[in-house]
Amino acid sequence: MGNQQQSPIGIFDSGLGGITVLRALYHQLPQESIIYFADTDRLPYGNRSPEELIQFVREILTWMEAQGVKMVVMACNTCSAVALDIIRSEFNTPVLGLILPGARGAVRQGKRIGLIATQATVSSNAYKNAILEVNAAAEVWQVACPEFVPLIESNRINDPHTKRVAQKYLQPLIDQDIDTLIFGCTHYRHLSGVFKSILPSHVVCIDPAEHVVTATEQELELMGWKNTAPPMPTRFAVSGCPEQFAQLSQRWLGYMPTVEQVALQDFMTAEISVSATRE
Ligand code: DGL
Repeated sequence: MGNQQQSPIGIFDSGLGGITVLRALYHQLPQESIIYFADTDRLPYGNRSPEELIQFVREILTWMEAQGVKMVVMACNTCSAVALDIIRSEFNTPVLGLILPGARGAVRQGKRIGLIATQATVSSNAYKNAILEVNAAAEVWQVACPEFVPLIESNRINDPHTKRVAQKYLQPLIDQDIDTLIFGCTHYRHLSGVFKSILPSHVVCIDPAEHVVTATEQELELMGWKNTAPPMPTRFAVSGCPEQFAQLSQRWLGYMPTVEQVALQDFMTAEISVSATRE
């Protein structure tokens, strides 16, 4: 790779969730250039098997490396929970996940910790294990919330039905008298207004997005890779419909992005035939 400092950071999610990480990056690391990929053709990720998710992340990382990224931030808890270790062993680019930074942030805050996340993240127990590793005395309750991502992706945040669904998912955690709630899926920050209207006021919400961006900054400093030149405009790519993503993301970005479409599987096939020709 050439000049690492000026190379972009790659971030990815199944859809709109990663925008919460993107916004934290804009806020904390405004000088960095960013490539955002959303695998909208295959969302939601939350009900996928670990094998499928690992393969999806492999494809995304292969594409990201070809775009010349200096680092990748998994802006998806589901991928961080099931694919991070394997992917790190397969790629040279540094890859950061949300689980450990999020778990550390929660443990600093409280002892009775609730987690809302996708089914795949809950089933992996990744957050629970990470929290207990940092503080064995902490207690953790996990709730899988499969209805949230489809509601957010179909722009139904202010729908009364969404509030009823949130009430259903949060009540068991409120009954346990949690003091801390982790948004264990990057999409959920988009619902923070709904959560606030349901949760007792003493419950502190932890958004792992902010913590992974702090970890990203530390990593960049360590490597001497912080960008000092003016950043490039963020490049957006999706596997599904670019117009739909542009329309839906505008609300969270505050501007209408230009979005390109990428066919990851075709890209993988081309990569394989190029490397076969080289051999
Ligand atoms: N936003 C992702 C996460 O943090 C994935 C959600 C999904 O596609 O189910 O887990």
